[in-house]
Amino acid sequence: MPFTAPASTGPIGVFDSGIGGLTVVAALRELLPAEDIFYLGDTARVPYGGKGRQTIERYTLEIAELLLAEGAKAIVVACNTATALAIPKLQEIVPVPSVGVIMPGAAAAAAVTRNGRVGVIGTRATIASGAYERALRDCRPDLEVHVLACPLLVPLVEEGWLDDPVTDQVVGRYLTPLLAAGIDTLVLGCTHYPFVRESIARFLGPGITIVDSARNCALATREMLSANDLAAPADQRGSLQVALTDPSGAFLEVAERQLGLGIRDVLVRRVVAANKTEEPRISPE
Ligand code: DGL
Repeated sequence: MPFTAPASTGPIGVFDSGIGGLTVVAALRELLPAEDIFYLGDTARVPYGGKGRQTIERYTLEIAELLLAEGAKAIVVACNTATALAIPKLQEIVPVPSVGVIMPGAAAAAAVTRNGRVGVIGTRATIASGAYERALRDCRPDLEVHVLACPLLVPLVEEGWLDDPVTDQVVGRYLTPLLAAGIDTLVLGCTHYPFVRESIARFLGPGITIVDSARNCALATREMLSANDLAAPADQRGSLQVALTDPSGAFLEVAERQLGLGIRDVLVRRVVAANKTEEPRISPE
């Protein structure tokens, strides 16, 4: 793949399958106001959550190439699904440092749980990958981890049904077994889910801590930049540029209202297929 050389200055390239990763952007803007951010939402191909490893690896590398073309000095994978399935490939191939959302969220949950019973919700692909169990047990081998795929939540969020009885009902139906399992901490293992955090919190009640990886990912990004000597000068005022691979991201308005990021012009970036050869024969993943 024809990746260009890394730039030592330039924006942090942040991406997600769609708009959900803007929750990570909001945390990055708050923690790292000096940094320029170029956000790319792969709205042409959302959702990633039901797709297989080869597809998500290919999408991730194609998006990384677009971010490098924007001069990205580092990449933040603001998508749990891409983090779960494609971070090793990304780190093997792409010549700039990168960080995902799973380890930061897992570390925060491991630190905060009191009874050692942690729930994780995410897309089918994230949950099936086992990435959260591995990350949580790396932090604390004694944890009892309860994982659950909640595939209906992303479309509800993208539809803008953030405060809606239908969403409350779906949340309740999904989370009932986790309540029964006695978790005291729930990781929102999908960057879309913070948009329905209130519905989730209402259902779980006050005794359960909700961990969303956005702030923890921003902290990990700060560490990554400083370890690689890539932090922007502290007196700089960072900018935010948002681009989508398909301009019809209707949820962008809802996200903007919710997060107040001050998004102005939205660019369109077309994905050029990285691998035009035939796909390998389908095999179980
Ligand atoms: N926001 C993505 C994540 O964090 C999921 C959305 C999708 O299915 O594409 O996993």
